[in-house]
Amino acid sequence: MPTPVILDCDPGIDDVVAIWLAAAHPAIDLRAITTVAGNGTIDHTSRNARIACTVAGIHGVPIGQGAPGPLAQKLETADWIHGANALGGIDLPQLAMGLDDRDAHDLIRDVLTQSTQPVTIAATGPLTNIATFVERQPELCRKIERIVWMGGSTGRGNVSPYAEFNASTDPEALDIVLASAIPFTMVGLNITHQAQITREVRSRIRAIGNATATFGAELLERFCSTYDAFGEMPDGPLHDPITVALIADPAVATTQKSRLDIELHGDFTRGVTVVDLLELTSRPKNVTVAVDLDVDRYWSLIETAIRSLA
Ligand code: RIB
Ligand code: CA
Repeated sequence: MPTPVILDCDPGIDDVVAIWLAAAHPAIDLRAITTVAGNGTIDHTSRNARIACTVAGIHGVPIGQGAPGPLAQKLETADWIHGANALGGIDLPQLAMGLDDRDAHDLIRDVLTQSTQPVTIAATGPLTNIATFVERQPELCRKIERIVWMGGSTGRGNVSPYAEFNASTDPEALDIVLASAIPFTMVGLNITHQAQITREVRSRIRAIGNATATFGAELLERFCSTYDAFGEMPDGPLHDPITVALIADPAVATTQKSRLDIELHGDFTRGVTVVDLLELTSRPKNVTVAVDLDVDRYWSLIETAIRSLA
């Protein structure tokens, strides 16, 4: 029985591949895509979700536009990584998929209400939409099986020494979601940096040869050259699809229960995910944390998904 999933995302190059994996994997029943500002403005991330579906021939998955910015701070996009159009600045195809008439909140509400079983939320951007929903619809939280989120880190950050972009963009949203006690899995930089998009991976994807692979290979080349230019790492990490892979094929990563808190006030540490992996505090464990990736299995999932699309 496939797992019903809502994917909340801020496409963003790696979010695009998460959309493709969620639409293609037989263990996932992708009920809806919702968009949030993060890598780009809400106009860009919403258009890019439509592009991801257009290129891959994904039909019948409603796309609901969500929050234009974080709950308590000004939006600062990741255009330094994802480009001015949040898709690497590449030429974009004509759009075939439209937005749903419902916004993200209404779409999530209807999917949860109409589902005969609890729905898993994969979130690959700032948690603004999910926090807003949790606050406005507390009685529907019982229909959320769990949230699997790409964000945070058990170690170093990527937008400040210890803060990761999705957490840092909307730390209040993460705090609200953690307080909801909905089962929560964190897929942080500590594991996503194991998913380096090497030249060999990029050529295997390009060799698939369909439209999705050709578009995806171009996106990944841009992504990697940007990371390389920043001297961060020779090949960029494909962060977001790990959330979907973990839902579709739990053996792709190892996880452990831990304590997660989000720093909201530190002068140097606002947005830092404080993960008590070594159990140095007496604070009760409240999340599951992904800690190690089966890299070959992950790339095989990605390739199989892309091969099955347009
Ligand atoms: O820090 C990586 C995360 O920030 C990924 O989700 C990427 O798409 C950006 O949103
Ligand atoms: Ca993202």
